[in-house]
Amino acid sequence: MAARLVSVSVPFLLLLLLLAVLAGSRAALASAGTVEQICAKATSGGSHSGLAPFCVASLQAAPGSAGADARGLAAIATNLTLANYTAAVATIKELQKRGGWSAPQRDALATCRTRYIEALNVVHSAVHALATGRLQDYAADMGVVGKAATDCEDAFGAVNSGGRSPLRKVDEDAVNLTTVAALIVRSLK
Ligand SMILES: *[C@@H]1O[C@H](CO)[C@@H](O)[C@H](O)[C@H]1NC(C)=O
Ligand SMILES: *[C@@H]1O[C@H](CO)[C@@H](O)[C@H](O)[C@H]1NC(C)=O
Ligand SMILES: *[C@@H]1O[C@H](CO)[C@@H](O)[C@H](O)[C@H]1NC(C)=O
Repeated sequence: MAARLVSVSVPFLLLLLLLAVLAGSRAALASAGTVEQICAKATSGGSHSGLAPFCVASLQAAPGSAGADARGLAAIATNLTLANYTAAVATIKELQKRGGWSAPQRDALATCRTRYIEALNVVHSAVHALATGRLQDYAADMGVVGKAATDCEDAFGAVNSGGRSPLRKVDEDAVNLTTVAALIVRSLK
């Protein structure tokens, strides 16, 4: 009878132990910081708190972001910036192909295309700087990257006398993503 009790309860205890270990590792994962916590920390204490919802929405949509620590999210945000600038160049090319633009608008589109292509090279450099821990180089690169999108918007601002540029959303996404990535990296120090 005693022997039978032991044979039943040992596997049961092992199961309990396994469940306890699993629960512990889940807790550890959660305490590493959620996307919300990392975005809140990165955007706090400056003029960037308005970016927190954008930070959360864009990063939560990215594969691998759940359970990533700040360092991992910094890499994900920088890669998202690279993808965004690549997509922006494609969008600009499509707009140029579609045609129907005035001469000044064509000039503005050409300026945007040049700026975004230049910026793509610099995002590549930023990805490398982050991977090798050169955080000052990274910050300088991302400053140049964000400026390209602002320059594009400004090129249209002059043409459309303050009206909406056809690249407004593209430019805003680009600036916001670049800023979010740079803020997360800054929060690592
Ligand atoms: C960019 O971020 C600002 C907050 O800083 C927000 O108001 C704006 O809607 C965002 N732009 C886009 C395209 O999501
Ligand atoms: C750029 O990033 C923003 C924010 O993640 C996203 O909403 C948008 O769809 C991206 N744009 C392109 C063209 O991929
Ligand atoms: C970011 O992109 C690089 C280069 O494509 C890749 O090696 C790396 O795994 C990516 N990192 C993340 C976190 O997605």
